[in-house]
Amino acid sequence: MVRVTAPLRVGVVGLGWAGRTHAESFQALPDAEVVAIAGKEADLAAAVARDLGIPATYPDWTDMLDAGGLDVVSIATPNSLHMPIAVAAMKAGLHVLCEKPLASDAEQAAAMVACAEDTDRVLETVFNHRNRGDMALLRQIVGEGGLGDIYYAKAAWMRRRNYEVRGWFANRDAAGGGPLIDLGVHMLDMLLTLLGEPEVTRVTGSTYAALAPQWLQAQGRDPATWQVEDLATGMLHTAGGATLLLEASWAVHGPYADDDMSIHLHGTRGGASVRVQDYVTGPVRVYHDVAGRPAEVVVAPGKGTGHATVVRDFVRAVRSGDWAQHRGHAGLVRSKIISALYESARKGTEIRL
Ligand SMILES: NC(=O)c1ccc[n+]([C@@H]2O[C@H](COP(=O)([O-])OP(=O)(O)OC[C@H]3O[C@@H](n4cnc5c(N)ncnc54)[C@H](O)[C@@H]3O)[C@@H](O)[C@H]2O)c1
Repeated sequence: MVRVTAPLRVGVVGLGWAGRTHAESFQALPDAEVVAIAGKEADLAAAVARDLGIPATYPDWTDMLDAGGLDVVSIATPNSLHMPIAVAAMKAGLHVLCEKPLASDAEQAAAMVACAEDTDRVLETVFNHRNRGDMALLRQIVGEGGLGDIYYAKAAWMRRRNYEVRGWFANRDAAGGGPLIDLGVHMLDMLLTLLGEPEVTRVTGSTYAALAPQWLQAQGRDPATWQVEDLATGMLHTAGGATLLLEASWAVHGPYADDDMSIHLHGTRGGASVRVQDYVTGPVRVYHDVAGRPAEVVVAPGKGTGHATVVRDFVRAVRSGDWAQHRGHAGLVRSKIISALYESARKGTEIRL
């Protein structure tokens, strides 16, 4: 085990919301420093570097890796670049923190995990939503046994009207999919985390592009630029017999806010749910029988920590020198399930994992 003692020298790839959040989160730690940032937007790179005190900027991730002098690469680029950047970085001896989804598909995610094992590097996926205050509270309620065995759970992230997805998000090659791989992967992560990482054995998925292309056409724009689903649903079965439902949309007619996120857990002793609209964290509702009658307790969650905790835990893992439990497996499990849901939607059949 090699303990790392000097501050970690971090290079961040990507200058969007995610990249900037990575850079801010590393810079906030005493034992890490962002020494380089890479991205296509030269003006933005200069502004981020100036704001956060980052000494070097590069137009492309390859230039940043070629320049050397890094211990860590933090990836916040379009999904299709996650695998090539991570593999090149790990082969160059660097540890990797990668935005969700780990990769555009399960095959690429598996190649990344295999590379982490071969090169003995840390590979972690950013699943920041599991650090929300309401998720932490739900995890505590589940962990204390308050719900008994959870046999049915639902998670949804529904955006009612998000046709104006930016840049690469609706491009199949760059993104690997639409709201399922973008938002659904967060909800899947939260469900699996809350249920203690159950093994998912079979899935059925459906995808639709019912509204977004129509809307583009009505605007006189090319509907063919919309290459992914605008709504997806999935049914997952676990080895323990639980059923999980997943929903994600960028466009849907329904009783949703522009950002509408919900989780419902149903167990043998109780149930719990949370609904968050437009990022305003709602309370956690817990359902039990009291004196033989249905009762509801409403509990206020604490503040969430998001990327700050993901980055802190990643830095701790790298510095510990004990890397065997940090090879990207959680990201791979989620990528396999998302890919299986897409395969099921394509083939119209259930897929066994
Ligand atoms: N965890 C979260 O809450 C969260 C939120 C938003 C986005 N994300 C994820 O973060 C990633 C980026 O999303 P975004 O919204 O920031 O995207 P974005 O389009 O705003 O930014 C992408 C960045 O990648 C850079 N890039 C592209 N090709 C490059 C290259 N060859 N070399 C160097 N840089 C290159 C672009 O210049 C740009 O700065 C995606 O994987 C997305 O799923 C996660």
